[in-house]
Amino acid sequence: MNFIGSHILSVSQFQREDIETVFNVADKMIPYANRDRVTRVLEGAILGNMFFEPSTRTRVSFGCAWNLLGGEVRETTEVKASAIAKGESFYDTARVLSGYSDIIVMRHQTEGSVEEFSAASRVPVINGGDGSNEHPSQALLDLFTIRKEMEGRGKTVDDLRIALIGDLRYGRAVHSLCKLLSLYKNIHFTLISPAELRLPETYVEDIKASGHVVVESEDLQAGIAHADILYVTRTQEERFPSQEEADKYKGLFRLNQTIYTENCEPNTVIMHPLPRDSRGDARELDDDLNENPNLAIFRQTDNGVVIRMALFALILDVVDQVEKSARDVNWYTAGRFR
Ligand code: CP
Repeated sequence: MNFIGSHILSVSQFQREDIETVFNVADKMIPYANRDRVTRVLEGAILGNMFFEPSTRTRVSFGCAWNLLGGEVRETTEVKASAIAKGESFYDTARVLSGYSDIIVMRHQTEGSVEEFSAASRVPVINGGDGSNEHPSQALLDLFTIRKEMEGRGKTVDDLRIALIGDLRYGRAVHSLCKLLSLYKNIHFTLISPAELRLPETYVEDIKASGHVVVESEDLQAGIAHADILYVTRTQEERFPSQEEADKYKGLFRLNQTIYTENCEPNTVIMHPLPRDSRGDARELDDDLNENPNLAIFRQTDNGVVIRMALFALILDVVDQVEKSARDVNWYTAGRFR
């Protein structure tokens, strides 16, 4: 695909070579994310960061990624803080805000909302999550993490065995990741969820049509054996018709150190798009795994910065200019990517 000036709305836009392009640029961004180098390549440019649903890591890491490239961030963080609360349409909002920004990242609770917004925008729009539909930048950072974790174990993404656990019905990160992984070869998917929260049939059919193996299970212990990656997800309670309905599924599949030790191979990687629900009745990914070296959740969040820097650099066509305006930093740096 041609990244320059493009909206990023769905992972369906990508082929394998496009993913390689993003990952190669992301690798080049590591010295900047690591605070070894600074660049001002986007000095004067403005990011419109519009999050109409709660977010910690997507919102802040898109903002940080933009800042690390030298740009300024303008945020809108709630519907009630924008004129959408007064009845303004996506069309008008997009026409207005795209006059103030060089690129927009948007999250909204409604499936298809970001695409609708992008159709009226005069600048590129990146989908930061639209309802239960898609979360493209999350899938890219997840795949980038999977690739690195597998490389460290002498394996590849091709031939991967992944167990996806939890709310696979409403989890947009899972939906986008399944589509991306389907571009690779010979993936074994184990889908572990309550029957009511299974992966929608359209995704299952597409995975199978791409030649991969899909096994569906309601048995956590059996399902996680022999997996390379465990990808745990939270019950997306905000998508359920009622809190009472969501509460039925909380805590049904809890991964903790004991279950991991008894059922998994020693090098099995543990991932989660986060946030994990650490409240007492949920805890799908227990705190007692925090010191497990195979827990990759904070490597995922770190990788989100370089992936989002890469998307910005590719869309705004500055990949080859990043180094020209760069210098070493002059402050103490903790070195996150070392
Ligand atoms: N993974 C993810 O989308 O996290 P946030 O909701 O904190 O952005």
